[in-house]
Amino acid sequence: MNEHPVKISLRGLTKSFGKKHVLRNLDLDIFQGDSVAIIGPSGTGKSVLLKNIVGIQTPDSGSIKIDSEEVVGLTGNARDRVNRNLGMLFQGAALFDSLPLWENVSFGLMSAQGLSRSDARQKAIERLQQVGLDAGNADRFPADISAGAQKRVGLARAIATKPEILFFDEPTTGIDPVMGDVINKLIVKCVKELGATALTITHDMESARRIADKVAMMHAGKIVWVGDVDKIDDSGNEIVDQFIHGRLDSHISNARLGTSAA
Ligand SMILES: Nc1ncnc2c1ncn2[C@@H]1O[C@H](COP(=O)(O)OP(=O)(O)OP(=O)(O)O)[C@@H](O)[C@H]1O
Ligand SMILES: [Mg+2]
Repeated sequence: MNEHPVKISLRGLTKSFGKKHVLRNLDLDIFQGDSVAIIGPSGTGKSVLLKNIVGIQTPDSGSIKIDSEEVVGLTGNARDRVNRNLGMLFQGAALFDSLPLWENVSFGLMSAQGLSRSDARQKAIERLQQVGLDAGNADRFPADISAGAQKRVGLARAIATKPEILFFDEPTTGIDPVMGDVINKLIVKCVKELGATALTITHDMESARRIADKVAMMHAGKIVWVGDVDKIDDSGNEIVDQFIHGRLDSHISNARLGTSAA
């Protein structure tokens, strides 16, 4: 049993692109203060799931509740109000090339919190320092820094407004293992400092083990197993076992296990 309230509740989520059925009746509860990793092979729909939760995409059917409020169908100011409580590190960092690093970080601070440019710059520098980048980086541009540093800036932006919920999409993809470890540790530190609820999407099992306290396995459009990260090696779930041992080829497994793989 979990004593904490449910922070994010997903029920019966479906999302298709033409004939491609990506989310198929997906259910998941994420409790307040938990750090959950959703794992699954490339192309399973992990990013699609995240985009539906944060409102970049809309599910075809199903329910997404954040703090018990139905957010499917929210638009405009109502959606903005919900999203003010969310911070997101996008797959590939997704920084604005034409803006210096401090403006990338303080984007939400200026637009949502109405801070002046000089206050926002000061806050941005503090956030950059929190992720190990000194103030001298503030006026540099994304193209002038390494992929690892870009991830740090993306992380600084995600935590900028001190949101209650943090989303990380493939935080270690595209960077070397040493930098990956640095980012994993930074994520753990930032989540702890904020007391946030965190959802990390990854196909990097090492990263999931380091960041999360719970793991949810996504396969064939559903969550097929949820458990504590330290139980992952004894899950008793064939799909989880295949995945953590690097044997999960989604095409073969889909054919063999069908879509009712729960
Ligand atoms: N906007 C879109 N239009 C059409 N198809 C899409 C769209 N977005 C995603 N898809 C398809 O949905 C499937 C799931 O994509 P998604 O990006 O969620 O996978 P993923 O699990 O995040 O993979 P990866 O680990 O490579 O990031 C893919 O087949 C992808 O081509
Ligand atoms: Mg993805």
